[in-house]
Amino acid sequence: MAIMDLLLSGLGRLNPGLVRFLEKRLKSIPYVKKQIQKEYEGIMAELESSLKPYKDGFATFSSIPAVGRQRDEILQEMNALKSKEEARWKDGFVSGAVYHGDEDHTNFLNKVYAINSQSNPLHSDLWPSTSKYEAEVVSMTANMLGADKVNSGSDSENEICGVVSSGGTESILLAMKTYRDQARDQRKITKPEMIVPTTVHAAFEKAAQYFNIKMVRVPVDSEYKADVAATQNALSKNTIVIVGSAPSFPHGIIDPIEELSELAKTHGIGFHTDACLGGFLLPWAEKLDYNIPAFDFRLPGVTSISADTHKYGYAAKGTSVVLYRGTELRHYQYYTTTEWPGGMYFSPTFAGSRPGALSAACWASMVSTGEQGYMESAKNILETAESIKKGIREIPDLQVLGNPLWVIAFASEKLDIYKIVDYMTGRKWNLNGLHKPPAVHICITLRHTQPGVAEKFIDDLKSAVEHVRMNPDVMEGMAPVYGLAATMPFRGVVSDLLKKYIDLLYKV
Ligand SMILES: Cc1ncc(COP(=O)(O)O)c(C=O)c1O
Repeated sequence: MAIMDLLLSGLGRLNPGLVRFLEKRLKSIPYVKKQIQKEYEGIMAELESSLKPYKDGFATFSSIPAVGRQRDEILQEMNALKSKEEARWKDGFVSGAVYHGDEDHTNFLNKVYAINSQSNPLHSDLWPSTSKYEAEVVSMTANMLGADKVNSGSDSENEICGVVSSGGTESILLAMKTYRDQARDQRKITKPEMIVPTTVHAAFEKAAQYFNIKMVRVPVDSEYKADVAATQNALSKNTIVIVGSAPSFPHGIIDPIEELSELAKTHGIGFHTDACLGGFLLPWAEKLDYNIPAFDFRLPGVTSISADTHKYGYAAKGTSVVLYRGTELRHYQYYTTTEWPGGMYFSPTFAGSRPGALSAACWASMVSTGEQGYMESAKNILETAESIKKGIREIPDLQVLGNPLWVIAFASEKLDIYKIVDYMTGRKWNLNGLHKPPAVHICITLRHTQPGVAEKFIDDLKSAVEHVRMNPDVMEGMAPVYGLAATMPFRGVVSDLLKKYIDLLYKV
């Protein structure tokens, strides 16, 4: 880590613009460039062995085989790979990722997928069944999220309407593009700005990059909630939308959506609630008498919501819903062309062809689970989360950040939290490392509601804390890399590392 240490020394105190300038200049010095390259290679070599565990024992294809392989053989091999990977998430060692995962539920969704595997909503004339499923998924989601009136096909300002997308990120990208295009059309804004709390999901920064929107970040308070006064101060004539999370990915905290959306309404701009994580849990938590602040369309200033069916809607991966107040707003999302030699063409989302089978499976998940099923699941998840929060709070040296419901972030003032994560990884746990501040979270799903999982988590966490307390100076595993990535002032170097990580994923 010698060159990294050098790069780190004292630079954190300089202003970010100067650090970027220095980084660019330093990286253009051949010696430094070579040393950084060497560091990259070292880190990547370490990562490669864990990311590519199937180099031996499994057939590898860098080109299409001359003659097709036997289907039986393929299935056998895939089952072998599946069985190597399944236990970790199935037994509840993973934060988030698989939200349901019970075998009978998964088998049912697989059957639904098989029935609909050829369908494509792009060809709505061939598969009107898929349009039916998607319209109903949108309507069910809107009704769950406080819609007074749900889109019946007529043009109405107050009817809640939406589309099915491929996931939370696509729902967010679509909503931000929609506000950009609306502001350009109605307010002639050419330099759009969105105001987001620092804790908002990375998908918003992705939207800012893709659609050329300036992202104005406002801080969160000591409870990790968006700062309303700072949001007000950040407003400008170019603001197109304010965003809040219900709850946020890092700390699981619900922003003050009521105040933020009221602020947006007063200024005649849009407000987006990112309920990707909470959209299918908070409504049931409220019915279970948990104290849930308002976040949905019952607030008149909320003009759009993203809610992920593929998380707590328990659908298979690949669907989410983005909802709008009024069909006029939704129209800014659509793509239509009338001049293409290929004919009249239109699509509601970014993709052209889409997997209708996933929409069918999403519909089937919602209809087969029903309100009763969602309530029971929410109850189990929230109760498990309560016991885990209590367990963490009882461990000396750990602090739960803010007052979360089921995404529980914790940190340590005395110990290196990344070493604690490392130890937990050694005990099979797969947790989410956070930074700014250094912390880790566990997102509770139905997998953790299985008997004994919460207790094992707390037992292992106690051992982890004890281990790190006894060995504070030992540098091992990924902790130094995490620590470095979190504090390294040269963010370009960290970004390069992440790109190399993606390259590695595509290495055969
Ligand atoms: C609050 C929040 N928003 C958006 C997303 C992005 O969702 P996806 O990974 O489905 O694109 C997530 C994912 O965890 C999330 O927690």
